[in-house]
This record gives sequence, C-alpha cells and structure tokens, in this order.
Amino acid sequence: MTPRERLIVALDVPDRRSAEGLVEALTGHVGMFKVGSQLFTAAGPDFVAGLTKRGAPVFLDLKYHDIPNTVASAVSAAGTLGVALLDVHALGGLEMMRAAVKARGTAATRLIAITILTSHDAASLERLGLPGGVPARVRSLALLAREAGMDGVVASPQEVELIREACGPEFLVVTPGIRPGGASLGDQARPATPAAAIRAGSSYLVVGRPITEAPDPAAAARAIVTEMTGA
Ligand code: C5P
Repeated sequence: MTPRERLIVALDVPDRRSAEGLVEALTGHVGMFKVGSQLFTAAGPDFVAGLTKRGAPVFLDLKYHDIPNTVASAVSAAGTLGVALLDVHALGGLEMMRAAVKARGTAATRLIAITILTSHDAASLERLGLPGGVPARVRSLALLAREAGMDGVVASPQEVELIREACGPEFLVVTPGIRPGGASLGDQARPATPAAAIRAGSSYLVVGRPITEAPDPAAAARAIVTEMTGA
C-alpha cells in the first residue's frame, strides 16, 4: 500500500453538498473517504452508495454498539452499500462482534472494532468505572476483537505498538487522533503526528479537521502524505 492509500479523510461535514465538494477536491490525494454519523444522518445511504459506485473506497464509521442480532442486521445492510471498512464497538462484546463477522458473509467489507475512543484518557475511563488505564483496556479489547474474527481495530496511534505485539503484523490498526505539528487538538486526548503513527505501524491514518478545515484541503492532504512518505 502506498502512503496515499493509507490516508483516510473523515468527511465530518453537515450536508451532502459540502461532502461532494471535499470529495471532488480530495480525489487522487487520499486513499479513502470516511462517512461518520453526522454525514450519514444528513445525506443517507444513497450518498455512500454513490461514492462506492464511483470507485471511491469508503469507511462507514457508524460504530455499531447494540445487541448481537441488531448489529448483525446493520452489518448486512451496510454490506449492500459496498463499503471497504465498517466498525463496531469492541465494548459491545465477543458475541456481538462474532455476530457482525457472521453477518458480513461474503461481502468484501473489512470489519474493525473501536477499542477505546481517542477522546478518552485514563481519568475519563475511571469516571466510567473502568480503572487500570487506557493501554491495558485497549490491549484486552484488541485481543477480544481478534478472537471474534474481526479484521482489526481502531485505536490511538499511541497504542499501535502494544496492539501489534498482542495481535500480530496482519491485524489492521486504524488510527484517528492524527495531528500534524502545530495543529489544534480539538477533542482528541491521545494524539500523534502522521510520521509517528506510520513509524509505530498504523495500517491506516484517519484525519478529519486538519484536512477538512484547511484553507486548501488538497494541499493539507498532500503535506500529510509527504510526511508519511518521509517516515
Ligand atoms: O477531526 P479529527 O481528525 O479529530 O477526526 C477524527 C475522526 O475519527 C472523527 O470522524 C471521529 O469520529 C473518528 N474517530 C475518532 N476516534 C475513534 C474512532 C473514530 O476520532 N476512536
């Protein structure tokens, strides 16, 4: 995979028109488009199917977390949209993830599990009644995802090495929380630069605001790809 193919841009915009503008500007500069809950709620499955029909790889980031039967039905529905990547929350449990893997059937969609959201830190996990720190939680959830037959996980770049060590070189590790030097953190609590994420062994980097809010999104994406290439 080239560095460009490993860059996923998060289309976190309020409507289809803004998303179409970004897709036009960024086609050829990034490897995949991520459609999350904001855009999916506003623009719907037709927008996603339109992207995949045009040959654009899509990460449908709806983070399913429900009872196994409901998640299985949602995964089947997403499979018909032709998305390349789809995620569920590992905290939904082993049986929920197994149901997701079974429901994918023969679709080419790769299934990944959110470990601990990159907006959490040790203190916010503690408030949820989850003591013990972030790395230990991430590690056990990644192992659970692998046991369920998931293709990989979503985690912060700071946890890539421990996941690689626990789950092996083939397991996908998708990392949001990417911030080029000097960029605003926003709500990301466990960030790293593009170069650091690549050096740690990330499979894919997810970048939202540092690209979508840049005055020239294509130039911002190119700069990130250059940094990834240098790493
Ligand atoms: O704008 P920013 O680069 O922070 O966007 C990161 C994207 O990755 C957002 O769409 C967010 O929903 C998503 N994401 C995340 N942390 C996770 C999983 C997904 O930030 N653990």
